[in-house]
Amino acid sequence: MQESATIKMAQLSRDMRKKGINIIDLSLGEPDFDTPAHIIEAAIEGMQQGYTHYPPVAGFQDLKEAICTKFKRDNGFHFNANQIVVSTGAKQSLANLLFSLVNPGDEVLIPAPYWVTYDAQIRMVGAIPRVLSSSIEDDFKITPAQLEQGINAKTKVFLFSSPCNPTGSVYSKSELEALAKVFAKYPNVFIISDEIYEMINFEGQHESIYQFEWLRDRIAIVNGLSKGFAMTGWRLGYIAAPPDVARACTKMQGQITSGTSTISQRAAIGALLSGYESCRSMCNILLKRRNLMIAELKKIKGLIVNHPKGAFYLFPNVSAYFGKQYKGDTLGDADALSLAILKYANVALVSGSAFGNDHCFRLSYALDQEKIKEAVRRLQQFFDTLD
Ligand SMILES: Cc1ncc(COP(=O)(O)O)c(C=O)c1O
Repeated sequence: MQESATIKMAQLSRDMRKKGINIIDLSLGEPDFDTPAHIIEAAIEGMQQGYTHYPPVAGFQDLKEAICTKFKRDNGFHFNANQIVVSTGAKQSLANLLFSLVNPGDEVLIPAPYWVTYDAQIRMVGAIPRVLSSSIEDDFKITPAQLEQGINAKTKVFLFSSPCNPTGSVYSKSELEALAKVFAKYPNVFIISDEIYEMINFEGQHESIYQFEWLRDRIAIVNGLSKGFAMTGWRLGYIAAPPDVARACTKMQGQITSGTSTISQRAAIGALLSGYESCRSMCNILLKRRNLMIAELKKIKGLIVNHPKGAFYLFPNVSAYFGKQYKGDTLGDADALSLAILKYANVALVSGSAFGNDHCFRLSYALDQEKIKEAVRRLQQFFDTLD
């Protein structure tokens, strides 16, 4: 197994910081906001009320009901509590699903660019990742024809995120419907819809592939509180899935971690049942940062910058710089470029090769506007000096 490229980059930049180097970190996968105060209050109350013992493996009943309420209120979907499994982060939710659904030798279809962990987890369960490529010209989205070409007798699962990490791309309702019509022809393919960035969506409402009723007995939605509620450290994710799949995930989790921290579960009830004002204001701030970073990056001539509608990442194409020289080194690909940028421009970002697209970089804009400006200034200076 490979170490996560994003974690590796974050470690490298921490090491350089320890040496006193002023690094601007655009490699992070988390908002720079603190968890809203009312959610922290809910956690404290939970501890004071004695929620300090082992919880049920799939989560407290009242949390599962709060998650069902969220689905009804925000998405118009009806789920029963026995379809919900609460886990230690959406990352564990995904692992539970893959361990439950996929056998060694099965194939899992993933559109690229994909989140690094998809590839690693698919391999971990002994399955084979089958990648469907997309490019910046397609707004990093796959077409129904591509999907159909990718499905074969071994395809067990289709796994994707919208809004997407690393591109920020968001599938529209009609694009999802076109994919859903392809799935109608292939009843053995299960769909994992990772919607962890649901609340960081800049245009229109969130669209889920679950809305297409003919697929409902073979979809698991993955979601959680990490991104939308600025709760990355609380480690709380969940799935909504057919009851048999939820049971299998509970069994799996029961032998690995058991139930998620009681404190995080009480906090999650507070988050899901209160108003979303703080989430909306975080999203508005992120939108301003996205616009700023796009405007700044467009000043760098060789970059092709995407215009994502969600999450907090940009995924510009940097291939115009491949083969250029810096201090005598040839920068042949996005890996070499990202390392040189860290070393010489002191900006940490992640090479697209980790996400299945080696023509691009992932830059996170979940940091304040001054740092965004300074980071892009450094990048511009770096690119201007390439021969
Ligand atoms: C697409 C995607 N899915 C899932 C996760 C995992 O979220 P969590 O922090 O809840 O484990 C992340 C986190 O970076 C992500 O980007």
